[in-house]
Amino acid sequence: MPGLLLGDEAPNFEADTTHGRIRFHDFLGDSWGILFSHPRDFTPVCTTELGRAAKLAPEFRKRNVKMIALSIDDVNDHLAWSKDINAYNGDEPTEKLPFPIIADAKRNLAIQLGMLDPDERDKEGMPLTARVVFVFGPDKKLKLSILYPATTGRNFDEILRVVDSLQLTAKNKVATPVDWKRGDRVMVIPSIPDDEAKKLFPEGVFTKELPSGKKYLRYTPQP
Ligand code: BEZ
Repeated sequence: MPGLLLGDEAPNFEADTTHGRIRFHDFLGDSWGILFSHPRDFTPVCTTELGRAAKLAPEFRKRNVKMIALSIDDVNDHLAWSKDINAYNGDEPTEKLPFPIIADAKRNLAIQLGMLDPDERDKEGMPLTARVVFVFGPDKKLKLSILYPATTGRNFDEILRVVDSLQLTAKNKVATPVDWKRGDRVMVIPSIPDDEAKKLFPEGVFTKELPSGKKYLRYTPQP
């Protein structure tokens, strides 16, 4: 099945969206980008997800991440659904959301990007789009991909958290440990020798002693 793997360049597709026709690379410009797909308009889980995404838009903007959603159904449906999403958020029920929604009524893009969920089908028996999260870097390459089935809603706080990790680790030779949050200490990556690590991280490198005697658990404050 076609799809995208880490390191692949985003396809430069053209699409109709609620913010007009776009070419994906022009839309991304030099920013980071997040593309999240949805099974269908006017569905409950998707409505809660897009409501949360809209509320978090200022956080994504702060991180220089352009957001774009995709759902099967056409632009008119997306615009009518946007009113419901704003009402769900307790906001004025306008057609305006802080990100475009791609119309993929024929599922061409969903097929190209490997987004279909074989277990969830519409009334005509056609597979629905799964809940995919793609994060692209400013080089337009895929940095992160998470795939949820249609029946499991995403956690957008987690998506912001992984964006923080991606942006930090793109700039520094560190990795983020389990449950890491912005401001927590980070790990020195294994390929950096100790003497280089000391120079790279002047705030100090703390190595945890382990039964193996191997010195691979090296922490440093978040650069
Ligand atoms: C939903 O968004 O609620 C949904 C869509 C497709 C299958 C299951 C749930």
